[in-house]
Amino acid sequence: MTRSPSIEDRPIFLIGFMGAGKSTIGRLLADRLGRAFVDLDERIAGDAGATIPELFATEGEAGFRRREAALLAEVVKEGAQVVAPGGGAPCHGDNLERMLAAGVVVHLSAAVDEILTRVGEGESRPLLARARDRRAEVERLLAARVAHYRRAHLTVDTSGLRPSQVLARLLEELA
Ligand code: S3P
Repeated sequence: MTRSPSIEDRPIFLIGFMGAGKSTIGRLLADRLGRAFVDLDERIAGDAGATIPELFATEGEAGFRRREAALLAEVVKEGAQVVAPGGGAPCHGDNLERMLAAGVVVHLSAAVDEILTRVGEGESRPLLARARDRRAEVERLLAARVAHYRRAHLTVDTSGLRPSQVLARLLEELA
């Protein structure tokens, strides 16, 4: 891809669906580039003193989205970090516009089967924990979100790749 602006001094945002590897790849990329890494959900949870499932339970998705948008508005101003927002962040409010304006936005994509394997059966993702049919819910959410994800400056398909391979591709794309 040739559309990405220079990454000098600008944050890099890794967006994509749950299970796409944003946090894993984000940590590797930040290490490699000698940058700080921000896992937005970890910061939201740390600031709130509650886990993401607890926040969904007590404040609802709307409350979580307000926290997410407020924190992201701060983080975009923090300079050349690597930032991994949660999978829904670029699909709500003006979060994506803020990221596109502030830095380089990379979409990590993954096939549905791979997403389902990576997210497993756990309760840590409230949007999927409640679903009777996880595959159907992943497909529904993905269909609703893909237009947002596609606005990223560049996309790296992570399907079938180990984290080290995704990192190598990403570094190539960013070069
Ligand atoms: C969400 C994804 C989660 C977390 C929250 C909502 C979403 O982050 O922000 O559960 O709307 O897709 P991950 O993408 O890191 O799982």
